[in-house]
Amino acid sequence: SLPVENVQQLAAASHNFKDIPNRYIRPELDNHVVVDESLQIPIIDMTKLCSDEQSKGCLDHQELEKLHQACKHWGFFQLINHGAAQVIEEMKVVSEEFFKLPLQEKMKCGQLPNNIEGYGQAFVVSEDQKLDWGDMLFLMSLPVSLRNMRFWPNSPPHFRPTLHNYSKELHKIAMRLFSMMAINLGIEPQKLTSAYEDCNQGIRMNYYPPCVHADKVIGLTPHSDATGLTLLIQINQVQGLQIKKDAKWVPIQPISGAIIVNIGDVLEIMSNGEYSSIEHRAVINFEKERLSVAAFHNPNMTTDIGPLPDLVKTSGEKYKRLSHQEYIKLVVASKLDGKSLLDHMKI
Ligand code: SIN
Ligand code: FE2
Repeated sequence: SLPVENVQQLAAASHNFKDIPNRYIRPELDNHVVVDESLQIPIIDMTKLCSDEQSKGCLDHQELEKLHQACKHWGFFQLINHGAAQVIEEMKVVSEEFFKLPLQEKMKCGQLPNNIEGYGQAFVVSEDQKLDWGDMLFLMSLPVSLRNMRFWPNSPPHFRPTLHNYSKELHKIAMRLFSMMAINLGIEPQKLTSAYEDCNQGIRMNYYPPCVHADKVIGLTPHSDATGLTLLIQINQVQGLQIKKDAKWVPIQPISGAIIVNIGDVLEIMSNGEYSSIEHRAVINFEKERLSVAAFHNPNMTTDIGPLPDLVKTSGEKYKRLSHQEYIKLVVASKLDGKSLLDHMKI
C-alpha cells in the first residue's frame, strides 16, 4: 500500500478548488445519478423482536416479517430500542475526542506498511487510484486474542475500556439479529449463529472532514461490505450515507440513537441470495465534519464461506464455497481488478 496524505490536515488547508489535489476529484460525480430523498430504509424495533431465541412464543410476527422484508429488499435497516444506548453514547464521546487530538498524537496509532489496522486511510494500490476524502481508525476487536493493542489509542483515557464494552454489546446485538434472521429463513438458529459465536469483529471509525468542493469528492467509494453483518452508528447526525436502490442513491436519514444494520456479502452468500448485500457510499458535507463507527461481524476462521446447506435444497447453490482463507484472498483480488466480490462468487 502507498502512503496517503492525512485528509483532516488537507481539508484544513483547502480553501479553494485549486487546493484539492486532483486525486480526490471524481469526474463520475458529474454523471448525475439521481438522489431520491423520498425513500427511507425500514425501521426495526428490537423490543418487538424476541431477545430469547428459545422461546419462540413471544415473537412478534409482524416485526419479524418486517425484518425479513428489510433483509431481502433493502439489505439495510435502522434498529431502534436495541438496549445499547449507553455504550453508544460513550463511544460517541471517545471517537470525537480521538479525532480532535493533534495529528502527532493520533499518529501514535498510525498504520504500518501493508496493514489496514490503525489510524490512516483506506488501502491504495496504485499511483492513479482515486482517493477517499476521509481518515479512519481501524481496529480488530474480536476475538480478544486478535487485538493488537499497539493500535489502540491510550488517549482519550477512556478509549480502550469504552471500545471493549462497545465491541461486546454490538456482538450481542448482532447475535440476536442472526437468530431472528435464521428463524425468518426457516432454519435452526444454531445453523447460522454458530459461525458467528467466536466471530471476527473489526471496528472502523470514520472521520470525514468538510470540503469546499463537497460535490466533487467522495468520502467512501461505492462498495458493498465483504463482511457478514455491519452495525453502523452515525456519531454526529450529519447525513452522508447513501445506498443504491433501483439505480438511485437513497440518503439514510440519521435517527438519533439508532444502529444502521446492513447485510454484507458473506450473509448474502450464506443465505444463498435470499438476503441482499447492497452498494453504498459516503458523501461529504460542505461545512460540517461527519463521524461514523462501523462494526463488521465475520464468521470465525474455521467456517467455510458458502450457502448454508439447509438453504440450497430447493434452488441449488447459487454461490461458490470457499475456505475462509480463500475467501479473504478473493476479497483482496476483486478489489484489485475493480469487480464486485459477489461477481466472482456467483455460480
Ligand atoms: C461504511 O460504509 O462502512 C461507512 C459509511 C458511513 O460512513 O456511513
Ligand atoms: Fe460499508
